[in-house]
Amino acid sequence: EKMGYDHFMIKEIYEQPKAIKDTLSPRIIKEGKLKLDEVNLSREYLNNIDKVYIVACGTAYHAGLLGKSFIEEYAKVPVMVDVASEFRYSNPFIDDRTLMIVVSQSGETADTLAALRLGKERNAKVIAITNVVGSSVSREADHVLYTWAGPEIAVASTKAYTTQVAALALVALDIAVKRGTIDEESLGNILKELKKVSGLVEEIFKDVEDIKEVSNHICKSTNLFFIGRGIDYDVAREGSLKLKEVTYIHSEAMAAGELKHGTLALIEKDTPVIALATQDNLFDKMLSNIKEVKARGAYVVALAKEGNEEIEKSVDKVIYIPKILDKLAGILAVVPLQLLAYYVALERGCDIDKPKNLAKSVTVE
Ligand code: M6R
Repeated sequence: EKMGYDHFMIKEIYEQPKAIKDTLSPRIIKEGKLKLDEVNLSREYLNNIDKVYIVACGTAYHAGLLGKSFIEEYAKVPVMVDVASEFRYSNPFIDDRTLMIVVSQSGETADTLAALRLGKERNAKVIAITNVVGSSVSREADHVLYTWAGPEIAVASTKAYTTQVAALALVALDIAVKRGTIDEESLGNILKELKKVSGLVEEIFKDVEDIKEVSNHICKSTNLFFIGRGIDYDVAREGSLKLKEVTYIHSEAMAAGELKHGTLALIEKDTPVIALATQDNLFDKMLSNIKEVKARGAYVVALAKEGNEEIEKSVDKVIYIPKILDKLAGILAVVPLQLLAYYVALERGCDIDKPKNLAKSVTVE
């Protein structure tokens, strides 16, 4: 049931605060303690791994990209991320010192399941992050961490992504604790920030008018770009996929520093560029990339954290997200991009919940 919403997609976007809370709160107990009994990997095993492989498709793959940055930062172990359709036909370096994480909302994606089987065949231990209890992936993995997003009906994945990212943050912290790569104080701080996320998503909803204004401006475009660096680039890729999927507008996500290696040639007057600039350590670099596209006449919409108002003089429009620990900003930054995709699709009269050519669960290759 759509409960008064016009589409499942918008309903599910608005369900994110609850979905994130349901996924996080049973696993964060009182002050500064993590309770992840589902993934009971031993200290001994985790101190002996030499890499983590995250494998998934589509939006779940994009969540995996953020997982890499959490695990490398907190657990200090190298992480490879691959799309399952590539991974399964590659010859990956996997052995009993590899921890594999597969991410799948449905738990039934054919390529992801095949990737899981390949990992196990090569003696990796596999954690599945999935939203469907009893799904194939959950049955075959060694450990399962459920996202408690509730049923996701719209083909375009929204609350599955944010809960997957939240779950990956928990896994990263659990590995970090057991490997001794994080101290109690930092753990406490990160958990405190994580607990704020759900409320901060609610705040983003208050700015929906700004997002509608941008949708109005770009709904007739035929080509647009998302740019970002670091985590912002990962989120840019998800924002771009979401937009393509529901609006049928061609878009591309670029690592901002790569623009001048080719893609800048496509920027002309009024080309929309959505520039994600939520990371303090990369803010100045993003500002110079923004100036580069602006100089070619692009219509630039920046996504920035509150407090960075100076960006207003360099762009056409700014959408703000509330302040949060930079590492966690992705969970917030994706929300305006989901809303943007939705409102552009609405203006264009697209079949939002069932985009053409796509299926909710890709159970065949
Ligand atoms: O069920 P899964 O998470 O394994 O599905 C993976 C992708 O097919 C899925 O995320 C797809 O990219 C979404 N439609 C994107 O919105």
